[in-house]
Amino acid sequence: MTIIEPKTADELAQYYQLRYDTLRRPWNQPPGSERADDDDTALHALLLDDAGSPAGVCRLHLNTPYEGQLRFMGIREDMQGKALGNLLVNYLEDKARSMGATTMTLQARDYAVNFYRRNKYEVVEKTYLLFGTIQHYKMTKQL
Ligand SMILES: CC(C)(COP(=O)(O)OP(=O)(O)OC[C@H]1O[C@@H](n2cnc3c(N)ncnc32)[C@H](O)[C@@H]1OP(=O)(O)O)[C@@H](O)C(=O)NCCC(=O)NCCS
Repeated sequence: MTIIEPKTADELAQYYQLRYDTLRRPWNQPPGSERADDDDTALHALLLDDAGSPAGVCRLHLNTPYEGQLRFMGIREDMQGKALGNLLVNYLEDKARSMGATTMTLQARDYAVNFYRRNKYEVVEKTYLLFGTIQHYKMTKQL
């Protein structure tokens, strides 16, 4: 397993494709819906499996100099449950610390809350519904 920060057009295409496949396609959302307005100013992490194929994605954005936010975490379906999510969280937490952040925040889908709890995040509050069905919870952690 290797984590890279996608920069080339090909790496970025693979990165956004896996973001779409894990977080948008299952809810029949259109291609393009996986993009966010502030992606250009975020740090992106792409996990490659031993064959060099995309296996996981996540991004880090600094909301303030002290607060990082994880978004768009997705592990390829056949690779879930192998601690790859943990690898990406740890990688981006280290990045956030090195950038000076002291806390991390995120909006967890209801079924991912326990994954983040295993990574020592705590629920702050129930927040919004995505696509009318997926309840989100704000979670935070001291870095
Ligand atoms: C949620 C997701 C990111 C977890 O990644 P993963 O690689 O499958 O999880 P890991 O194997 O790293 O699991 C880490 C720990 O969390 C636990 N865990 C993972 N998913 C869990 C879940 N849904 N419920 C409870 N515990 C869970 C694991 O048992 C493991 O515990 P351990 O460290 O004690 O062994 C992944 O399943 C995924 O991409 N799902 C689809 C997209 C998605 O929902 N993204 C999150 C949006 S907020």
